[in-house]
Amino acid sequence: MTRIGAGYHTVEERLRTLEERVEEQTRTIDELRNRDALKTQFLSNVSHDLRTPLTAIVTHAEILRDGILGDLSPKQLESICGIISGGRQLIGMVGEILMYARGAADQLSLTPTEFAIGTVIEQVTSQVEPLAVKKGLEIGVDVEKDMPPLCADREKITHILSNLLGNAIDFTEHGGRVWVNASRTTTVQSAASVLIEVGDTGIGIAPEHHELVFREFAQVDASASRHHHGTGLGLAIARKFVELHDGRIWVESAPGVGSRFYFTVPVHASC
Ligand SMILES: Nc1ncnc2c1ncn2[C@@H]1O[C@H](COP(=O)(O)OP(=O)(O)OP(=O)(O)O)[C@@H](O)[C@H]1O
Ligand SMILES: [Mg+2]
Repeated sequence: MTRIGAGYHTVEERLRTLEERVEEQTRTIDELRNRDALKTQFLSNVSHDLRTPLTAIVTHAEILRDGILGDLSPKQLESICGIISGGRQLIGMVGEILMYARGAADQLSLTPTEFAIGTVIEQVTSQVEPLAVKKGLEIGVDVEKDMPPLCADREKITHILSNLLGNAIDFTEHGGRVWVNASRTTTVQSAASVLIEVGDTGIGIAPEHHELVFREFAQVDASASRHHHGTGLGLAIARKFVELHDGRIWVESAPGVGSRFYFTVPVHASC
């Protein structure tokens, strides 16, 4: 006999109680997993179904903007352009939720092809340049010479870069600087990799938030009055994509100084 808690129990009784508790907790974990899967499925269905009518709205607005159905007054044109830009923003957000839901359900796979990282960096920076110029930001690119070609999923690498660069522009005040650098590196396991840095001289992130920002739906300023509008999924998706490539992503940042996001992509001998 042992004295456990309030009364005396045989070892067998105690063992049975523990087994019952383990069973109960296993049931709870299973139930939570099922609910989580249902939530992910729901997010996936809703975002997928939202995309079709949203795309139709934007396409119809573009037809009006382009004068295909007749001329518009300057005020009407301005209004239509507002509908298009708001609609595009919504399509982007819905797309992110769909991507997240697919990642959470492990439905993402890689389609590797061979490409030069410098070309993708040039492509992404030229896409966001008008946005940076509009905000009065200087944008710089520095790619090391003779970089080895990557055998990776070009679309996903482009997505990661667009997200990081989009954040750098969003969180940097007028007159600041954003940049993308790429160089060779070796990982702890001595594997040859490409190291990509996306930096800015913006508001920065406090050390206690460095891990948090990579979690889904996490935003440092989650208040309704925040200036930046997003889903809080960009970095969670970027991390998922980097990890699918066996790479690593991290941030070095301090409030008021700026942020440097880094990620690595292993270099493979052939594709
Ligand atoms: N360059 C940066 N400078 C300062 N804060 C940043 C930077 N990048 C990310 N953050 C912080 O991390 C949070 C999460 O970023 P993430 O890209 O995941 O989501 P989001 O930009 O808010 O929304 P989404 O990318 O889904 O549109 C941001 O809301 C912001 O608080
Ligand atoms: Mg973002």
